[in-house]
Amino acid sequence: MARKIILDVDPGHDDAIAILVAAANPKLELLGITTVAGNQTLEKTTLNARRVATVAKIKTPIYAGFSRPLVRDQVTAPDIHGESGLDGPAWGAVTARVEEEHAVDFIIRTLKNSQGDVTLVPTGPLTNIAGAFIRCPEIIPKVQEVILMGGAYGLGNTTPAAEFNIYADPEAARVVFHAGVPLTMVGLDLTHQATATPEVLARIRALNTTVGDIAAELLTFFRSTYRDVFKMPDPPVHDPCTVAKLIDPDVFTTKPAYVDIDTQSELCYGRTVCDLYGVTGQEPNAQVAIELDWERFWDIVIDALKQYS
Ligand code: BDR
Ligand code: CA
Repeated sequence: MARKIILDVDPGHDDAIAILVAAANPKLELLGITTVAGNQTLEKTTLNARRVATVAKIKTPIYAGFSRPLVRDQVTAPDIHGESGLDGPAWGAVTARVEEEHAVDFIIRTLKNSQGDVTLVPTGPLTNIAGAFIRCPEIIPKVQEVILMGGAYGLGNTTPAAEFNIYADPEAARVVFHAGVPLTMVGLDLTHQATATPEVLARIRALNTTVGDIAAELLTFFRSTYRDVFKMPDPPVHDPCTVAKLIDPDVFTTKPAYVDIDTQSELCYGRTVCDLYGVTGQEPNAQVAIELDWERFWDIVIDALKQYS
């Protein structure tokens, strides 16, 4: 039976690829796409989700969520994703619409009506997920799993200590990591292994389809900003790593650890502090992603892209 998921995104180039993979793989049943402010404003990330759904003819309903973080001032990432949040391709007219229901209400309604078989897959700041847990704590025991892109046990990418999704809403992240749900943290330590090399781009271009071309254009733009900002030769395609793990559990390894979020300090605000050595004596609250099978990962992504025309 296909695994039921809600994908909570802030597209975002890598979020766009995550949407394409999640909607195409028959092992997953994509119940809804929810959007949140993150890489760009909510207005832009929602438009971008609709753009991706339009070009790929994805019929999954799209729900817009929070337009700002719970506590902190908003941060966005135009240096990585451009002013639109999805710079690169020439997007045409958008036909996919956004539902009237708020993303948080959709998440609550879906979990309430579920049999404990819905997995949440956030690939942006955790504002919507925390908002749903705060507004309706009864849904928490119904969450099968949260598998999120965010954090790092090593270095950050937005400050030396913090990764973007967690830094953009650390208070929300704290709520989610302490909710007591089975949680997998797919941090930069893992996603920096998911590099889109020239060989990967060539395989995607060779699909010779509209969606393949758009994916290649997205990754080409991503490549240029990652070179400019981080001096990385090949861009790491973070967000689809979450979805790939649900499709194939062997795509990366994990280690259990107690993870807490720093919401106090000036230097380390938004850091995911991961107790991989168990020095705190705290029970692990997360599986932390460690090592990616790069070939397996790209096979999953490219096989999904092949499903589109
Ligand atoms: C994360 O931040 C965003 O820019 C990406 O979409 C990804 O979710 C990586 O730190
Ligand atoms: Ca993202």
